Amino acid sequence: MKFFKIILSLFISIILLTNCTQKTIQKEQKSLKKTFENDFYIGAALNEFQFNKTDSVETALIINEFNSITAENMMKSMHIHPQKDTFNFKQADKFVAFGEKNNLFIHGHTLIWHSQLAPWIKEIKDSTEMVNFMKNHIQTIVNRYKGKVNSWDVVNEALNDDGTLRKTVFLDALGEDYLALAFKLAAEADPVAELYYNDYSMADAPKRKGAIKLVKSLQEKGVKIDGIGMQGHWGLNFPDLKEIDKSLTEYAALGIKISITELDITVLPNPFEVHGADVNMSFENNETMNPYPNKLPDSINNKLAKRYEDIFKILLKHKDNISRITFWGVNDGQSWLNNWPINGRTNYPLLFDREFKPKKAYKTILSLKDGKE
Ligand code: G3I
Repeated sequence: MKFFKIILSLFISIILLTNCTQKTIQKEQKSLKKTFENDFYIGAALNEFQFNKTDSVETALIINEFNSITAENMMKSMHIHPQKDTFNFKQADKFVAFGEKNNLFIHGHTLIWHSQLAPWIKEIKDSTEMVNFMKNHIQTIVNRYKGKVNSWDVVNEALNDDGTLRKTVFLDALGEDYLALAFKLAAEADPVAELYYNDYSMADAPKRKGAIKLVKSLQEKGVKIDGIGMQGHWGLNFPDLKEIDKSLTEYAALGIKISITELDITVLPNPFEVHGADVNMSFENNETMNPYPNKLPDSINNKLAKRYEDIFKILLKHKDNISRITFWGVNDGQSWLNNWPINGRTNYPLLFDREFKPKKAYKTILSLKDGKE
C-alpha cells in the first residue's frame, strides 16, 4: 500500500511538473503573430535568399513570428516580365509556394509601378499598346496566382509628394484612366483577392489629400478597391504621431481597409531631410552620415523601442480598420535602408538584429498586449 502511495504521488508530481513546464514554455514562446492575432496580420517582406533556404534559423523565425509575407522584389516588372513575350515566374512561384506551405497570408507586390520597370515597358508611348501591356501583364500574373495570393498592390506610388499624379509612362500614355483600368483588370482576373493602392509618405497631409482623392475617384467610377497601403518608411522623428493617427482616421472613413505595408524606422541621419522612399535618390557616404558602423548605441536602441511603442499604440487604437502590418525585411542586415539614400551604411530599422535576436523594440511592442486578451 505504502509503495502504491509513493508511486501515485510520484505520478502526480510528474504530471504537475509537465504541466508547469508546458505553461512556462507557452509563456516563453511569445511571438508577434500570436500576440496580435486578434488585431491584424503581422508580415515580413521576403527576398529570394530568404524563402529559398529551407532549414535555417531564419526560416524558423519567419514561420514562428509572422503570418503574412510580401514579395520584396521578384514580382516587380523588371524581374517577372523582362521582355514583351517573356515572363519569368521562377522566384515568384517559389515565394508563393513558401507562403502556401506555411499557411501564410500572401501579398503580391506590385503590378503597376513606374520604377524597376523592364526596359521595354519604358518605351511604350501608344495608348493601345499600353492597354495591351496592362491587360497581358495584370491578367497573366494575377491569374497564375489566383486563389493563392490573397492581396495585391495593384498600383504603387502613383502620387507626387504634393498629392498630384506622378508623371509616369502609364500617365503619359493613358492619362489618369490607367488607375481605374489597373484595378478593373485585377478584379476581373481574381474577384476574391484584395486590391490595394500603396504609397510612401501617406501620413503627410498633401499626399494624404491626393490619396483620398484617388480612392474616391475610383469608388465613384464603381471600381473595386479594397484598401490603402501606407508603406511606413518612417524615422525616429517623422512623421508626427498625430499625422499617423489622423491619416488612419481619414483613410478608414473611405470605408476601405488600411495596411501598413513596408514598416521600418531609420535611425541614421537624414541627408537634406529626405523622407519617403524614392528609390532613385542617392547621396555620398561619410562618417557623419554613418555614425554606428559597429553597434547600435543603447541610447538609440531605446529611442527606437519607444518610437515603435508609440506607433503600435496608435495602430492598436485603429485595429478595427487595419488588416495587416508588414515589416520591410526580417533583420537589420537585410534592410534596403543600409543602401538608401546613401549606399553602404549600417542601419538598424527592424525588430531583429543581424543575428536574428529580438531587439528592445520587439519586447516593447509585445508588452503592449500584456494582460490583455
Ligand atoms: O540582386 C542584385 C545583386 O546581384 C547586385 O550585385 C546588387 C548591386 O547593386 O544589386 C542587387 O539588386 C538590388 C536589389 O534591391 C536586391 O538587393 C538592386 O540593385 C536594388 O535596386 C534593389 O532595391 C530594391 C528597391 O525596392 C528597388 O526595387 C530593394 O531591395 C527593395 O527593398 C525596395 O523596395 C521598395 C518597394 O518595392 C516600394 N516602396 C519602397 C521600397 C523601398 O525602396
